[in-house]
Amino acid sequence: MRVCHLYFILSQAVLAAAGENRVEPISPEERPFVRAWNVADFDDVISVGLEGHRDYEKGRRLFAVASCLKCHQFHREGSAIGPDLSGVGDKFSPRDLLESILNPGKEIPETHGQTIFEMKDGSVLTGRIVNDAGVTIRVITDMMHPDEVTSLARGQIVIRKESPLSPMPTGLLNTLGKDDVLDLLAYLLSDGNRKDPLFAR
Ligand code: HEC
Repeated sequence: MRVCHLYFILSQAVLAAAGENRVEPISPEERPFVRAWNVADFDDVISVGLEGHRDYEKGRRLFAVASCLKCHQFHREGSAIGPDLSGVGDKFSPRDLLESILNPGKEIPETHGQTIFEMKDGSVLTGRIVNDAGVTIRVITDMMHPDEVTSLARGQIVIRKESPLSPMPTGLLNTLGKDDVLDLLAYLLSDGNRKDPLFAR
């Protein structure tokens, strides 16, 4: 049957579960589920502004704890699977930044999207192309494990199309409290500057 398809569903499930159960890179404590946050939960704070109430150290730590560093660079730390988030505060308002973390994939940059492959044997596989030049196309199917690369024989591919799904998992903030989410946002919005007014007490 569609082993690859099954594998894809499983890997998506793992990605989704990673939001609830991940092993955090800084200290490996397991974090309990808090809430499936949505943007409206933060309207009260965002509408008055985050200035002066946020905790720089906590935000910085949470950027690693919530797995962001696994895929994003921020001032030369982290991996380059997703876009570099340095300067993200100039690009996004606090609300839009939160939205892009809670609902990844609203606008997927062409350089960071995934491709769906339907194979002659009926299997379907989704992933990010890392090499499209050879006899085989090399694809990463699970962004949490970018070392695992799958090779697809070019001649076996029937359909190849852009995936509407982001490689970024959803639910990454579901194990954080409301203040945690706001500290993480402030850390990014300040561009990693601990002297930013966001952190003035
Ligand atoms: C498994 C890899 C992965 C993880 C983990 C991950 N991201 Fe992403 N992220 C991506 C990819 C790939 C994109 C680009 C596709 C998209 O925008 O949906 C992205 C896009 C974004 C964007 C939009 C950037 C832009 O310039 O448009 C923001 C903001 C972001 N991520 C923040 C975060 C934060 C904060 C965390 C941690 C809570 C996080 N990401 C965790 C892979 C990841």
